[in-house]
Amino acid sequence: MPTLRLAIVGAGPAGIYAADILLKEIAQREQPSFDVSIDLFEQLPAPYGLVRYGVAPDHPRIKGIVNALRDVLDSGRIRIFGNVRFGRDITLDDLKSHYNAVIFSTGAIRDAPLDIPGIDLPGSYGAADFVSWFDGHPDVPREWPLDATEVAVIGNGNVALDVARMLAKHAEDLLPTEIPANVYSGLAASPVTDVHVFGRRGPMQVKFTPLELRELGELRDVDMILHDEDFDYDEASKTAIATNKQVLVIDKVLTQWRQREVGSASRRLHLHFHAKPVEVLGDDRVTGFRWERTEPDGEGGVRGTGEFREVPIQALYRAVGYFGSPLDGVPFDDHRGVIPNREGQVIDDSGEPLPGVYATGWIKRGPVGLIGHTKSDAMETIRGLVNGQADWWSPEHPEEDAVVALLESRDIRFTNLEGWHRLDAAEIALGEPEGRARIKVVPRDEMVEISRG
Ligand SMILES: Cc1cc2nc3c(=O)[nH]c(=O)nc-3n(C[C@H](O)[C@H](O)[C@H](O)COP(=O)(O)OP(=O)(O)OC[C@H]3O[C@@H](n4cnc5c(N)ncnc54)[C@H](O)[C@@H]3O)c2cc1C
Ligand SMILES: NC(=O)c1ccc[n+]([C@@H]2O[C@H](COP(=O)([O-])OP(=O)(O)OC[C@H]3O[C@@H](n4cnc5c(N)ncnc54)[C@H](OP(=O)(O)O)[C@@H]3O)[C@@H](O)[C@H]2O)c1
Repeated sequence: MPTLRLAIVGAGPAGIYAADILLKEIAQREQPSFDVSIDLFEQLPAPYGLVRYGVAPDHPRIKGIVNALRDVLDSGRIRIFGNVRFGRDITLDDLKSHYNAVIFSTGAIRDAPLDIPGIDLPGSYGAADFVSWFDGHPDVPREWPLDATEVAVIGNGNVALDVARMLAKHAEDLLPTEIPANVYSGLAASPVTDVHVFGRRGPMQVKFTPLELRELGELRDVDMILHDEDFDYDEASKTAIATNKQVLVIDKVLTQWRQREVGSASRRLHLHFHAKPVEVLGDDRVTGFRWERTEPDGEGGVRGTGEFREVPIQALYRAVGYFGSPLDGVPFDDHRGVIPNREGQVIDDSGEPLPGVYATGWIKRGPVGLIGHTKSDAMETIRGLVNGQADWWSPEHPEEDAVVALLESRDIRFTNLEGWHRLDAAEIALGEPEGRARIKVVPRDEMVEISRG
């Protein structure tokens, strides 16, 4: 029986689910026409993508999804090549000469831009970078400048709430989580008193979800500050409350907070709606934020009112979405930040499908949606891959050892599944004396050393 030698690039949930779905699909066929052998390439020495390096440390239940992903990796049917970056250590031509097909599942790690004056001033940061720092990503600096007392967070998605919560939460309340020691000490020294979150639309047009909103109100020693002027709902908002359960819950949560007594907490989290970003103020560093008040346009959108306001801040985080990165030799849509594709099969500039090249997850669909959504994504991509058997590549070196020899010939210090188990065990052992589930190892060299034994 022929074997489909499949390369998957990116060991986040999308890549791991794609491997799982393909293996299950073949296993359940009475007479499969091919067998499968999967190699998973990951630029980091650890798998799980944004589940490990995006999901907030104080969300242990979501972080727990790694247990299901780990079961897939441990199935014995997948090899991992960690610390191998596509485009630097391995190319599309290499994959073509060793595999029958490739699936790209490289996600999105960069911040989308926010094009307003002053956005590049010192003290203005992208949420993605801050998230990478507090989640112990090896490729960002270990120190984060947490010296501001007043901070702005731009955006009304779940990432904005994660960032606002991490900034406002007292560091001791994060101690039971897996945060690295440098993150704890950075947050513990933060002098922050006020975190202002700005959404350009109304409270009933937010992108964040009720569960994440509710969490803000449960923060110890943090007052929630809201403004009555933001709650003069238009017809579209009233309809949204009447027809959408999520919106109804958000309205209830915000209404409760508006009735709360405030004034006793040492930190405040301000939610500003109808606030469109205009300018980050400051000469040589951030000193303020200027926005234009908007009003409902009656159709769920907003329009500017011409009224401008300012707040003093010393740091600003833009959380206006993530953005994918191009991969060498692979088509890329610069506008959407995705690999252009039709139901997962990558297409070129003229819309022609590229044989053997597939995409899944955030790099296929764009940076929206939960971990679970990457599963349905992967199903569609795998369907296309299996149905496209006639177009698979015919590699010169399909034998499993050939790619190992290739990486070794390039002196690439790749890690494997055993290495990940070693690193995983080392992190759990680091956490044990402190009664914590794990403490992450952050420096890449150290991760590789431990993994390679
Ligand atoms: C801050 C944040 C918090 C989130 N919290 C939640 C949550 O609580 N609950 C929830 O359901 N969803 C959450 N999400 C959404 C969830 O993380 C995504 O839906 C999911 O991770 C997307 O999966 P992916 O595999 O497409 O991408 P990713 O998870 O980004 O995985 C992509 C992988 O590809 C690797 N890679 C990239 N480029 C290369 C290359 N050139 N060579 C080799 N490897 C490469 C990356 O290192 C990474 O491991 C959150 C997202 C963010 C940004
Ligand atoms: N706990 C969780 O479950 C969790 C945690 C984090 C992330 N996630 C998921 O990960 C995905 C990505 O989240 P995200 O927060 O990065 O993206 P998002 O949900 O798309 O939110 C982006 C926010 O940025 C705003 N925005 C965009 N451009 C702007 C501009 N020029 N000026 C002002 N505001 C602007 C958007 O406003 P408009 O709506 O007006 O465009 C929106 O409020 C989402 O699906 C999210 O649910 C989930």
